[in-house]
Amino acid sequence: MKVLLLGSGGREHAIAWKIAQSSILDELFIAPGNAGTKKHGKNIELSVTDFEGIKTFVLQNNIDMVVVGPEEPLVLGIYDFFTADPQLKNVAVIGPSQEGAQLEGSKDFAKAFMSRHKIPTAKYGTFNANTLADGLRFLDNMKGPYVLKADGLAAGKGVLIIDDLDEAKKELQEMLLEEKFGKASAKVVIEQFLDGIELSVFAITDGESFKLLPEAKDYKRIGEGDTGLNTGGMGAISPVPFADAAFMDKVLNRVVIPTIKGLKQEKIVYNGFVFFGLINVKGDPYVIEYNCRMGDPETEVVMPRLKSDILDLFEGVATHTLSERDIQFHDKTAATVMMVAGGYPGAYEKGKTIYGLNSITDSLVFHAGTLADGPSVLSNGGRVLAVTSYGKNLESALERSYDSISKISFEDANFRKDIGRDVLDH
Ligand code: AMP
Ligand code: GLY
Repeated sequence: MKVLLLGSGGREHAIAWKIAQSSILDELFIAPGNAGTKKHGKNIELSVTDFEGIKTFVLQNNIDMVVVGPEEPLVLGIYDFFTADPQLKNVAVIGPSQEGAQLEGSKDFAKAFMSRHKIPTAKYGTFNANTLADGLRFLDNMKGPYVLKADGLAAGKGVLIIDDLDEAKKELQEMLLEEKFGKASAKVVIEQFLDGIELSVFAITDGESFKLLPEAKDYKRIGEGDTGLNTGGMGAISPVPFADAAFMDKVLNRVVIPTIKGLKQEKIVYNGFVFFGLINVKGDPYVIEYNCRMGDPETEVVMPRLKSDILDLFEGVATHTLSERDIQFHDKTAATVMMVAGGYPGAYEKGKTIYGLNSITDSLVFHAGTLADGPSVLSNGGRVLAVTSYGKNLESALERSYDSISKISFEDANFRKDIGRDVLDH
């Protein structure tokens, strides 16, 4: 099989690493990729949203399957672009239709979907500029903290959690009237605050059946002890100790099955990953968000725990035979720690030479924001490297990652020293 993988982050490096191990792979291309993906296939200079450019490449290179890493091309309708084109319609696209991608692309769509299918989530209301007065009244009738979410994609920045009622009202006005998050905040979802511990659950589906992937926990804040600004994610672990059989049974029956059934019932075409951002409130799962793709950095621990051939699963998705495929996991723990640029998630510099990569033997180093420069590797983003290790338990996996990190350096590198600590202390 000839595969084109779209994306350029740590998630895509981990997926490329996994695809490269498949017994049915003939050739792997990654667009645009990074200095890490290059080791597993050929990087192609193409933007993930340049559908015409992707089409030309796919036709010229007889690509059989396109695996979509990030949400943007999905929300822009890359699946539908392929199926509507007579020349492309036999190329498999791993990712949902544009309508399915609305689970991530519109918070209001996701909330309405959940309420139609009785999937547990925070109570909410959706407001626009014309219904601002209703939104303000809605806030008056709630208890804080107040959760305000821009409806559309806002690069992970569209969620505000505010303690003070007056400040929440001011923010709501700025989102609706002053386009605080651009068009993404033309509609705002206001929801009840849920207090609990978060985890990420992943399924892959062909629209009929699904397989659960290993669950993971992501560390979103920049600072130790979960303080400071939100980031794309500073580390992840899998498995998640509090996701025991009883909890996962509730996740399956209350969240995953109703979601897959609901998509089918509503004839929403969905052939790809579903990411359930969950919160455990006193032993019960609630959906905080859906994403229409894998998580990053969760993928950097999920792929290493997947024993099965990922292209076999993808083929099952493409041919609607997923139920016949086998999925197996490694029993080991995997932990990843992100090395980021100094200043991230605020302003940061790129182009720093990364040293020590060749000395790492006990970890998998997944590249996130990197660029090959001849034999050198330069930093090329806020999140630079995800250093993943296996262990017989969480402690030993983390110890290996931190030991590997001590051998890698670039100017102003930063990382969290407490990944997994909350779970170990629990
Ligand atoms: P989202 O982009 O929807 O995942 O929201 C970003 C982060 O905000 C989540 O990872 C949670 O930590 C937090 N969050 C979102 N919604 C809620 C909620 N209803 N209650 C508590 N925290 C929330
Ligand atoms: N790690 C969270 C996300 O990928 O959205």
